[in-house]
Amino acid sequence: MATPGQPGDGGVPVNIRTDIPHPARVYDYWLGGKDNFAADRAAAEQVLQFMPEIVDTVRGNRQFLVRAVAFLRDAGIRQFLDIGSGLPSSPNVHEVVQAGGTGARVVYTDHDQVVVSHAQALMTKRNEDSVSVVHADLRDVDKILSGAAGLLDLTQPVALIFAGVLHHIPDSDDPAGVVARYLAALAPGSYLVISHATDEPSPEKMAANAQVADNSGTILIPRDRDAILRMFNGRELVDPGLVLVSYWRPEGGEPGPNADRAWVYGGVAAV
Ligand SMILES: C[S@@+](CC[C@H](N)C(=O)[O-])C[C@H]1O[C@@H](n2cnc3c(N)ncnc32)[C@H](O)[C@@H]1O
Repeated sequence: MATPGQPGDGGVPVNIRTDIPHPARVYDYWLGGKDNFAADRAAAEQVLQFMPEIVDTVRGNRQFLVRAVAFLRDAGIRQFLDIGSGLPSSPNVHEVVQAGGTGARVVYTDHDQVVVSHAQALMTKRNEDSVSVVHADLRDVDKILSGAAGLLDLTQPVALIFAGVLHHIPDSDDPAGVVARYLAALAPGSYLVISHATDEPSPEKMAANAQVADNSGTILIPRDRDAILRMFNGRELVDPGLVLVSYWRPEGGEPGPNADRAWVYGGVAAV
């Protein structure tokens, strides 16, 4: 079904399938967003039946991303490259890092046309010139870096962000090796942010979640902490290291009561 410009999609000028679940819109539903349709909600509710922790997991991931980029903004980083950025979800990375008029620049990238169209529509509406969008698969490192160089000065420090995306890259494509190719292009003083789903708390529930994702054509590979740590390529992590996301510099110093229900590891490393 071709359905351009449905309510809730921001009037995106592309033909989109609304009759089958779309991973970014399913994720949006769990986050409490409005950019989703009946098929997305049905898939999201299916997972909620056997893994109610999914809501804490995706929200914990998103809140970690916000805290991590705020930390880097406060550390003086003014350039951000957000890979696998997903549907706009307030607060977006650019809203956090530009708070207080920092003048920070942000490049969003995603391989998904629906996501990219939403991001472009948002930027057009806001007349943004400090934010750009690159449409590419993250494994196409050269395309993303050359697209990012249109807005970012890669001779200066950059925060490179892989939030909730490397678990979509199979081992056969060497996710740690892909990250290493980006790191090689970054200037001293840069930072690396990674968050990644884990199945350590419940392999059964995460396997069932991955099966639902697979049914709509999305690969989801939760990994253990050691495998995720390898994606940092030996770079030194800032305190508290690689931890379940709710334990990474929580607001007020204390992780909330649902901290152990967010099944995602997250960390920030100096490049
Ligand atoms: C779970 S969402 C995470 C969104 C956001 N980064 C966050 O943490 O809230 C994963 C995003 O990664 C994107 N993605 C998946 N595989 C990708 C790939 N190979 N290259 C680029 N983006 C990818 C998806 O389209 C989706 O928007």
